[in-house]
This record gives sequence, C-alpha cells and structure tokens, in this order.
Amino acid sequence: MLTSILNISYLIGALAFVVGLRRLSSPDTARRGNIIAAVGMSIAILATLVYPFSGAANNYLWIAVAMMLGGAIGWVASKRVQMTAMPQMVSIFNGLGGACAVVLSFIEFLNLQKNGTAAGLGELSVLVFTLLIGAVAFTGSMLAYLKLDGKVWDSQVTLPKHNIINNILLLVVLAMGAYMIFTGTYTTLFIGIFAILALVYGFSFVAPIGGADMPVVISLLNSFTGLSAATAGLIYDNKIMLVGGILVGASGTILTVLMCQAMNRSLLNVLIGGFGGAAAGAKAEDGEQVAKVATVSDAAIQMFYSQSVMIVPGYGLAVAQAQKVCKEVDELLEANGVEVTYAIHPVAGRMPGHMNVLLAEADVPYPKLKDLDEANAALPSTDVVVIVGANDVVNPAALDDPGSPIYGMPVLNVWEAKSVIVLKRSMRPGYAGIQNPLFFHAKTRMLFGDAKESLQNLASEIKGL
Ligand code: TAP
Repeated sequence: MLTSILNISYLIGALAFVVGLRRLSSPDTARRGNIIAAVGMSIAILATLVYPFSGAANNYLWIAVAMMLGGAIGWVASKRVQMTAMPQMVSIFNGLGGACAVVLSFIEFLNLQKNGTAAGLGELSVLVFTLLIGAVAFTGSMLAYLKLDGKVWDSQVTLPKHNIINNILLLVVLAMGAYMIFTGTYTTLFIGIFAILALVYGFSFVAPIGGADMPVVISLLNSFTGLSAATAGLIYDNKIMLVGGILVGASGTILTVLMCQAMNRSLLNVLIGGFGGAAAGAKAEDGEQVAKVATVSDAAIQMFYSQSVMIVPGYGLAVAQAQKVCKEVDELLEANGVEVTYAIHPVAGRMPGHMNVLLAEADVPYPKLKDLDEANAALPSTDVVVIVGANDVVNPAALDDPGSPIYGMPVLNVWEAKSVIVLKRSMRPGYAGIQNPLFFHAKTRMLFGDAKESLQNLASEIKGL
C-alpha cells in the first residue's frame, strides 16, 4: 500500500516537473511553471521521507538538520542575489548538484566495501559514471562561476599546450574508470585518486574556454549535472531522481545544441578551441578612425522622429538595471507612433534567456521581442537601432574578420539599419575582450554613460519634444 502511494506521488512529481518545464518556455507562464515544479519536488521529497527504507528512521534528525540548513542558505542566497549576479548563482547551484552526485557515489563505494559484496559491471559503471560526471560538473561550474564573476581570467588558469594536458588527463581518468569497472577494483585509495583527477579535469577543461564560448560550456555543465543526478537515481533505484535528472540532462543538452548553433560552432570546436579572446584595450580611436559621440538631445530627436526603433539589449542592461526605464522610453516613442521592437541575441547577457527575463520583469510584451533571424531580416528597414549595453553580439568582426576569436558567430547586423546609437559607459570591450569596429562605423553614434541614466535623460528629453 505504502509503495503504491510512493509510486503515485512520484508520478505526480514527475508530471509536475514536465508541466513546470513546459511552462518555463514563456515569460507569461514561467512563474507558475516554477511553482508547479517546486510543488512536484516537495511531493517527491515528502513521499521519500515517509517511505520505510530499512534503517532510515534513524536518520530523520540528520535529514531535518540538513534540509533546514540547505533550505536556509538557499533562501537567503536567492533573496540577496542581485539580478546581475544570477548567472553566477545558477553556476554555483549547478556545481553543488554535481558535488552531491560525487558524495553519493563515494558513499556507495564505501558501502560496497563495508558490505563486502562484489558489485556487478552495471552497478560499477553507474557509480563510476556518476562520480566522474558529478566531479566534472562541480569543479567546472565553480570555475565558470569565478569567470562569470570576473574573479578569474582565462589567461590566469590556462597553461601552454593546455588542450594536450586536458586530453591526457581525460584519457587517464577514462582508463582508471574502465579499470575500476572491468576489474572490480574499488579500494578507497583508487577511488580517491580517481575522484581527485576527475575534479582536476573538470576545472582544467573549462580553463581555456573563454570569452564568447562560455554559454556553450555553461549549458554543457548543466546537462552534466542532470546526467549525474539521473545516474544517482539509478544507484538508489529512485524513479523521481532518475526522471528529474533526465529532464535536466535533456534540457541542458538541447540548450547546448542551441548555444552551439547560436555561436555557429561545433561542440568539439568549442571544447578544443582554446581562448575565446585576448583582452584588447579598446580606445575611442582606432588608427585613423574616431568614434563619433551623440548628445542626449540628438539621440532623442532621432528616435522620436523615426518610424521604427529597434532596441538591442545586452549585458549592460542587466548591470544598469535599466529594463524599466527602457520600457518607459519605448512607451513614450510608441505614443508618438514609433514602432518599437527588441532584438534578442541568444547569448546576450550572461545566462540563457537573460534578456527575456529582464524584459519580462519590466512587462515588455513578448511579441515585441524578435529573435536573431527575425531581427536581422527587419534591420535593413529599421530607422534607428538603440544598443543598450550590448557589445559582442553586435560586433561585425564576427562576420568579416577571420582572425577574430568570435569569427563565425552569428550577430545582429545592426549596421544595416539607417542609424545606430550605442549606450555604454566607455570604449571598453565586452565579455570576449575584443575591440568592436561597430563603434567606429559611419552610421554609429556613441552615447556614453550608465545605460539607466542615459535612458532616463532620453525619456525626459523625449517628453519635452
Ligand atoms: P558584452 O559583450 O559583455 O558587453 C556588455 C557591454 O555592456 C560592455 O561593453 C559594457 O561597456 C556595457 N555596460 C556594462 N555596464 C553598463 C552600464 N551600467 N551601462 C551601460 N553599459 C554598460 O555583452 P553582450 O553583447 O550581451 O554579449 C554577451 C557576451 O557574454 C558574449 O560574448 C557571450 O558569449 C558572453 N557570455 C554569455 C553567456 C550567456 S549564457 N548568455 C554566458 C557567459 C558569457 P562599458 O563597460 O563601456 O559600459
């Protein structure tokens, strides 16, 4: 009877995950989707707690303390995190999922030793895989967090011939894993060395991947965490863990494919491609070229008397928290009959869907958001492009400079519009660390300053027209 209740609860939990995930596909339904998935997870946890596993009754105090501690840390972290630091927090949470898988697998190895039972090929494969993938997801995500937070640069953690070192490390780790599986060797020392090398590999494989290639790595690490959770579900014969892990693993994999398409790179090319860009000190002059500066009044007049304005948000929109004032400018322009749309590049910002989240927060209607292809098709007939804190995603070097680290990545062809206004604070480069020739383009005018302040100034100016 209790087993049936558990299975039904797991089924409800799994359905809630699927429905929740489905609802995350649109900003209108995403909040509810999150709640549905959270309710599903709560049902699954409760059902697992009441299920009479042998000896589990003794652990209730430990479980309660761990849940309260973890829940409290998660609650405080989520309350305190700034919108700009969300990508970092997602990376940390993702890494901790991997760390859990490592601990679970390690404990199960110790249990095998304690019980003295000889593990079969299947069981060992699952344990080794969980340990390996979990370890890579853990240290890889921690390094991704440090890179996203600007605490570590690729050059600081990359050695000469780093890809060769990585390949050797990977071969050693795979050989050790295969040895454990096929010979049934799982002494604590062997597992310990295997785990340490897997942790080192996770760090080392993310180390040389930089700049514009980070979105691919982040989604790949996400799928690794999902896979390790799924295999941990196999270890414990826990269906909801398996389903949850598969859902995260599958969505992470789909996201990885989408990110590769967005960057026009193969996954192998990203993983062995090395540096995403060397920091170049961008200046207001580039040889003969000098960036032209606009005043707030020029920019406001240009926008107000145009027929169509396309706003291109980027990471700077998140930094400035300018989404609400951006919407205000949009409304002022629309009130004067200007058609306002938003061009969303798939890797704009620092996490998948970053711009969609920000604009949804400001209640920008979803149909106004144009994806890369739609925006590029509309750009030649657009009067004014207003770039709000975007840089790499509008860099023409991606199309015409084969020496550029972002060469081949599809970008928003904003220079095809009649004119371009760039809102940023300085000539500093974006995440890929490279100069942007767009800033010196004949059609471009720079409006320097914090994006929120510049948009506020534009709003006041437009109101006075
Ligand atoms: P970036 O190329 O990073 O450029 C952002 C620009 O915003 C900077 O040049 C900066 O210039 C400006 N900015 C920062 N704070 C500002 C403020 N308060 N007011 C106005 N401007 C401000 O951004 P992007 O175009 O969105 O491209 C994203 C990049 O991040 C890509 O290279 C992408 O591959 C990478 N990345 C993406 C992800 C995901 S999953 N989306 C994850 C990791 C990395 P100033 O300093 O001069 O103001």
